[in-house]
Amino acid sequence: MTHTVADALVLFGATGDLAFKKIFPALQALIQRGELDLPIIGVARAGGSLEKLRQRVRDSLETNGPLDADAGAQLSAQLRYVDGDYADAATYRKLKQALGAARRPLYYLAVPPSLFATVIQGLASADAAAGARVVVEKPFGRDLASAQALNLALLAVFPEASVFRIDHYLGKEAVQNLLYFRFANAFLDPIWNRQYVDNVQITMAETLGMEGRGSFYESVGTLRDVVQNHLLQVVALLAMDAPTGHDLESLHAEKLRLFRAIRPLDPAELVRGQFVGYRDEKGVAANSEVETYAALRLHIDTWRWAGVPFYIRAGKCLPVATTEVMVHLKCPPLAIFDDLSQHSSNYFRFRLSPQVVIAAGAQVKQAGDEMRGQPVQLIARHEPSGTTLPYERLLLDAIHGDSALFSRGDLVEAAWRVLDPVLASNTGPRHPVQSYPVASWGPTAAAAIVTDGRHWHDPIPEETTPC
Ligand code: BG6
Repeated sequence: MTHTVADALVLFGATGDLAFKKIFPALQALIQRGELDLPIIGVARAGGSLEKLRQRVRDSLETNGPLDADAGAQLSAQLRYVDGDYADAATYRKLKQALGAARRPLYYLAVPPSLFATVIQGLASADAAAGARVVVEKPFGRDLASAQALNLALLAVFPEASVFRIDHYLGKEAVQNLLYFRFANAFLDPIWNRQYVDNVQITMAETLGMEGRGSFYESVGTLRDVVQNHLLQVVALLAMDAPTGHDLESLHAEKLRLFRAIRPLDPAELVRGQFVGYRDEKGVAANSEVETYAALRLHIDTWRWAGVPFYIRAGKCLPVATTEVMVHLKCPPLAIFDDLSQHSSNYFRFRLSPQVVIAAGAQVKQAGDEMRGQPVQLIARHEPSGTTLPYERLLLDAIHGDSALFSRGDLVEAAWRVLDPVLASNTGPRHPVQSYPVASWGPTAAAAIVTDGRHWHDPIPEETTPC
């Protein structure tokens, strides 16, 4: 399908952390590729100026770059700046002036979730929404009720086709490969079910802590920051049935069916953790109960997955920085060889970051007289990482109006429905947070999430050359 191309990019939250870390480097990369020659209007309530914004962009590229002198200079030349409070109608009048003749702007809401509705209302009141598209960052709301309210607020102003709910995991090469690998190969589907799969584990481990994002993190916590969006998207891609057509609607229909089949999370199947020292971070309350770690067990009530636990773990200040999926297969029906333990060594392993790896674990016989085995990995894909940054890919898609890698309102709501029973804004007992030392694998209580004699698979740093 062809779409109209945006003729201006408006970045709300231009002086914020997301713009600094991810968006400016992505814009520079697009300029390097000759893909971005529209005006870029930064909006912020920082009391700043165009010169200050240009300096911040240079700092961002030097820190997260590398800075490319030519592309950096071009980005600087394309910048405009609008300063003002998001709740003030004058800000949107200034924005309309800055937009000049642009008729198809792309608004990027890189602001805290609590401001989404204010900005949308501001755009509507200033008559600045017609012909425009809007990119909304995650987390999309705080729980099911607020996501529903946000969807209503958005759809009162923009048609669904103009709303781009961004989840940068969907722009990752390795995440797209989950879908591709599963449905481009005939050998997987016959075993991709409760007959052969014992359990699925997804670990998103980060070594970094808050890095100056303490006050943002206080308003979200791990469940809202990465589980409701990135990791549930990964669950959907791993567990959904094959789409029945090539179109986006078919893909979304299968994802929706899958999300709806995930049983709402039982508080007894969740452990929330907080790393020691979190409460000393800038912007964090001295008695904060916000989690920087979560481990949970999900159940998918379909004929394919009934009885197969999906274990999910995510946290800051863990020992390694990697996101990895392990699909553990069941043991052979009879133990013919004495050396095999009752734990199967058959698995599929998908490393989603920082490298892209697809591997299968198997046993082969060691050379010699004895019937003894050794584990090996069959490597299908092993690359340092995707060549295109996720934000680079997604920004360009949004500029071109291609929503294939964005989420849909009902999908986002269905994902919130899974977590809703444990979110603190709900009524009911709050779930206690348990502390864990920096560089550990989280609170000891998390071991109990993995049941029936199983253990967490702790990812290790990847060898640079495949074994
Ligand atoms: C973001 C979260 O969405 O994803 C961060 O807000 C997290 O807390 C980040 O660090 C991880 O993304 P990536 O691409 O670096 O694995």
